[in-house]
Amino acid sequence: MGFEGRFGPGGEGDRLAALRERVTPLEWPALSAEIAEIERLKAARDAVILAHNYQTPDIYHGVSDIVGDSLALAHKAQEADAKVIVMAGVHFMAETAKLVNPDKIVLMPDMEAGCSLAESITAADIRQLRTQYPGVPVVTYVNTSAEVKAESDICCTSGNAVKVVESLGVDRVLMLPDEYLAAYVQTQTKVEIIPWTGHCEVHERFTGEEITQFREAHDGLVVIAHPECPPDVIEASDFVGSTEQMITRAKGLSGRKVLMVTECSMSDNVAAQAPEVDFVRPCNLCPHMKRITLANIRKSLETLAPEVTIDPAIVDRARLAVERMLAVGR
Ligand code: 13P
Ligand code: SF4
Repeated sequence: MGFEGRFGPGGEGDRLAALRERVTPLEWPALSAEIAEIERLKAARDAVILAHNYQTPDIYHGVSDIVGDSLALAHKAQEADAKVIVMAGVHFMAETAKLVNPDKIVLMPDMEAGCSLAESITAADIRQLRTQYPGVPVVTYVNTSAEVKAESDICCTSGNAVKVVESLGVDRVLMLPDEYLAAYVQTQTKVEIIPWTGHCEVHERFTGEEITQFREAHDGLVVIAHPECPPDVIEASDFVGSTEQMITRAKGLSGRKVLMVTECSMSDNVAAQAPEVDFVRPCNLCPHMKRITLANIRKSLETLAPEVTIDPAIVDRARLAVERMLAVGR
C-alpha cells in the first residue's frame, strides 16, 4: 500500500499532515528536517523504504514508501526496482526481501532487530523433526532465519497460513515455529497440524481474561486479534487476521470502539488514518521493531550499511520456500 492507498487522493501531503497533528509544535521542525533529509537520501541512493505496520508513526507516515504486513512486504520487495531496499522492520523481513530480490542492496538499519519466534527454532531442529516425521511437509512461518527456511518445504505468513497448508494436498503438516498460529490454523482446516513451541514475546502476554475486562469496561467493543495470540485470546475475539487484515477490518468500523490485540504502534498508525474509529489501546511494544528509528534509517542510507547478505550455501533452498509461498498468494 503506497501513500495514496493509505490516505486517499491527497497522498503524500496528507500523510505528513496526519503526522504533524500527532506531534507538538516544538517537535515538528526537527522531525520535518529529518524526514526531508531521508527523502533527499532516498532519491540520491535510488532507495525505497518498506515499513512493517508496527513501525512508529514517524517512520510509517513520515518516510516509508510501502507499508504492510509480512506478506505484502515480501511481495513488494520482489517487485521493487530501486537499487536499494531499506527494511524498516525486523531481520527476517530484510532476509526475505534479499531472497526474493537478490540483486538489490538490502539495508537493515539495526541488525539486532530480531524476533522471539525466529530465535525459537534452528535448522538442526527441523532436520531432527524430519527424521521424526518422515514425509510430512514442513510449513515454516516467515518469522524464521534463512537457514530455517532452507530446511522447509514452503513458508507462510499470518495472512495466508491456512491457504498455504491446504495448497499442499496432504493430511498432515508440520507448522513451525509458532504454537499459537498453528493452533489457530488448526481451527480453520481439517489438515492435521503438528506444531512447535515457539511464541511471540509480544502477543503471548495478552490473556483472555484481559479481553473480558476490556469488554466489561467498553460497551459494544469490537476485538480484533493477531493469530500469534494465545488460544483464549483468539476465542474471546470477534475477528482474527494478519496485521494488514486487522487494519482493513478496523478501518471499516467507523463510530465503533475497537481493540486491536497486537503491537500497539499499529493502533497509532491506523488512528491517524481513521480518526472516526475509537481505539482502546493496551500497549505491548515489540522491542525488536522499536530498534528502528529515523536516525538509524538516515545513517544506513548515508553509509549503505548494514547490508543483509545470505550464505550462498543455503540461499537457493531458502528462496524456493519463500517463492512457493508467494505463488500461493493471500
Ligand atoms: P504480520 O505478517 O501479520 O504483519 O505479522 C508479523 C509479525 O511479526 C507479527 O508479530
Ligand atoms: Fe517477532 Fe513478535 Fe516482534 Fe512480531 S511482534 S517481530 S513476532 S517478537
